This record gives sequence, structure tokens and C-alpha cells, in this order.
Amino acid sequence: MSSHLTILGIETSCDETAAAVVARDEAGRGTILGDVVLSQLEEHSAYGGVVPEIAARAHVEALDELIGQALSRAGKTLDEVDAIAATSGPGLIGGLIVGLMTGKAIARAKSKPLYAVNHLEGHALTARLTDGLSFPYLMLLVSGGHTQLVLIRGVGDYERWGTTIDDALGEAFDKTAKLLGLPYPGGPAVERAAMTGDPDRFTFPRPLVGEKRLDFSFSGLKTAVRQAAQSIEPVSEQDIADICASFQKAVSRTLKDRIGRGLERFRQAFPDVAEPALVVAGGVAANRVLRATLQELCDHNRFRFVAPPLALCTDNAAMIAWAGLERMACGLSPDDLSVAPRARWPLDAEAAAMLGSGKRGAKA
Ligand code: KG4
Ligand code: ZN
Repeated sequence: MSSHLTILGIETSCDETAAAVVARDEAGRGTILGDVVLSQLEEHSAYGGVVPEIAARAHVEALDELIGQALSRAGKTLDEVDAIAATSGPGLIGGLIVGLMTGKAIARAKSKPLYAVNHLEGHALTARLTDGLSFPYLMLLVSGGHTQLVLIRGVGDYERWGTTIDDALGEAFDKTAKLLGLPYPGGPAVERAAMTGDPDRFTFPRPLVGEKRLDFSFSGLKTAVRQAAQSIEPVSEQDIADICASFQKAVSRTLKDRIGRGLERFRQAFPDVAEPALVVAGGVAANRVLRATLQELCDHNRFRFVAPPLALCTDNAAMIAWAGLERMACGLSPDDLSVAPRARWPLDAEAAAMLGSGKRGAKA
């Protein structure tokens, strides 16, 4: 095996079409050579959410061109990459088929190995690309499709400690925005409105706070927001700001309790890890109030808080390429070209499926 590896990554599991070329040196350091992401936000915003059929068609139209762009930015040809990595789940099946089939076609035509990558593994390993983190560490994945606290013990070695039992956190932001008449995607809109709001005007529920298990629940919070809005109709702009600020405060408190317990559990499980770390991933990681809460929590517990640049927290192909490189570097076999895409594919094969979670398509 070459000591310096270069790989082409492809990501099409939801509403971002992405391609990237990433290299890994013999010391395990990664370099992003070319990284392009095309968001389909505009195509979907009129519908207030991702429309699978529109997403799949948009991937077909954009992917070849994006792969060409990623390669040319990297100054590489397809013959010069060592392997292909494509997301093969979890996500929307139409998009997964587009990306994985393209990856297979390139692998076959150029006689390169193919790595069929779990999208969640991409998020899980990103902090090793951006911050050179060593195993083990904890990851909080908070996106439109997932809310999970996962122990990352090694490549392919993951243990899910907590997950949402109903809505994902991003979904709770999106639904809250929708019922307040704010635009899609809801997270940034709620954060913006909250800036001029009073976080103490409404006391919203903090589900599961105090419970020993590390799961999350956000659907009760959304219902409480609806009831608050209905009780003061017609809502003014200030009311909306106050509801958003109070909503974020409830989320902050919930995360503080849940993640705080997770940090304690990590310390007990790994007393010898000198500088334990919590990594955040997913679109909700953009939220400044939640970031500040997590930073404070980590400082208090003497954990390092790692928040990769936002473009690498949200969906991208560099993380897929990197996950492929990590697999390759530790000698894991490439996938057979008969590998099938999987709409549902838990990172932790041992974790029981949670009733009602990941309704939006089991997507992060
Ligand atoms: O990881 P991501 O880009 O992809 C999907 O899950 O599809 O996450 C998108 C989610 C959306 O639910 C969006 O509302 C949320 O991340 N989000 C935010 C913020 N920016 C994006 N949530 C809270 N605050 C934000 N600033
Ligand atoms: Zn994701």
C-alpha cells in the first residue's frame, strides 16, 4: 500500500451534492485538496422540507460536473486517485443510488477500489481530519435527521450512548420556525429571532432532564411552543422573539444535562485518557447559543470542545473521502461492486432501533 493515499469522495445522501479529493500522509495527517458542495436549498425551500424525488434528480444533474471540479481543484485526474469512496447510507434512497452507482462506475472503469461509506461515519471521523484527534472521543451529532451521542472508539468501532426518541433537534428547530411563520430552514431563523427575545418569558419543558439514560426527546417542546403561541394570538414580532429565545434556552438546558451525563460516563469508562474531547457535528452545530453552552460545559468538565469548521460540520464529501482513507489506511477491505445502498444504516449495529426516531428519512 502507498504511504501517501489520495481518494475521491462522493456524497449524495440528502440535499447536498458533493465531491472532494482528500489525501492522507503516512503520519495520518489529512489534507483536503479539492472540496465542492452544491446545496439544493432553493429547490426545496418552497416545499418547507426536502422532497426526495427533486433531490435525486438534482444529484443526477450536478454530480458529474462536481466530480470534475473537485478533481481539477486538486490538480488530479481519476487515474491519479488511489480509491473511490461514496456514501451508501443512511439517507434518501434515490440520492444514495445516484452517488453509489457513479462511484461504482468510476471504480470499475478505472480499476480502483471502492469504499461504500456510512454517512454517519463520515461525521464521526471528521475531527481526526480537521484536528488530528486520537481515539477514543465523544461525538454529538445534531442535524435535521439525527440527534445522537456516540462513543468513537476507533475506525468502525462505535457505540451509540444516546439518541432521540422522537424528533431530531434540527427538526424541532424547523417545526418551531414553521409554526411561528419563520422561513425554512428553521434553525438559522429561530436563532436570529431569538437574539432580541427574552429567554425567561416562557418556561418550556426540558424532556428527560435528570434521567440516567442518555437519550433525547424534543417533540414535547414543539407542542409547548405551539400552545404558547396559540395562547397569545395574534403573536407580535416580540412574542416570536421571546418564544424563540425561550425555546433555545430549554434546548440548552436539556443538552447541558444530557451531555453532562455523557461526559461523566466517558470519564468513568476511560479514566486514563488525559485530554478527553467532545466533538460536535451536524447543521445545528452552527447555533451560537448551543455552541456556547457546550463550550461552557466542556470547560467545566475539563473536556476539550472540538467544533470543526461549519462547512465540515454540515454535509460534505471531504468527510466521506476521509472515512474511506481511514478504512483504507487501517487495512480494511474495499467493498464489492455489488454493494447496495441502505436507507437505514445505524453506525452502531448493536444499538436497538428507537421507535419513532429518524422519521425524516434516517438522515444526518
Ligand atoms: O447537517 P445538516 O445541514 O443537514 C441535514 O440534516 O439535512 O442540518 C440541517 C439542520 C436543519 O434542521 C437546520 O434547521 C439546522 O440544521 N440548523 C440550525 C442552525 N443552522 C442550521 N439549527 C439551529 N441553529 C442554527 N443556526
Ligand atoms: Zn449529515
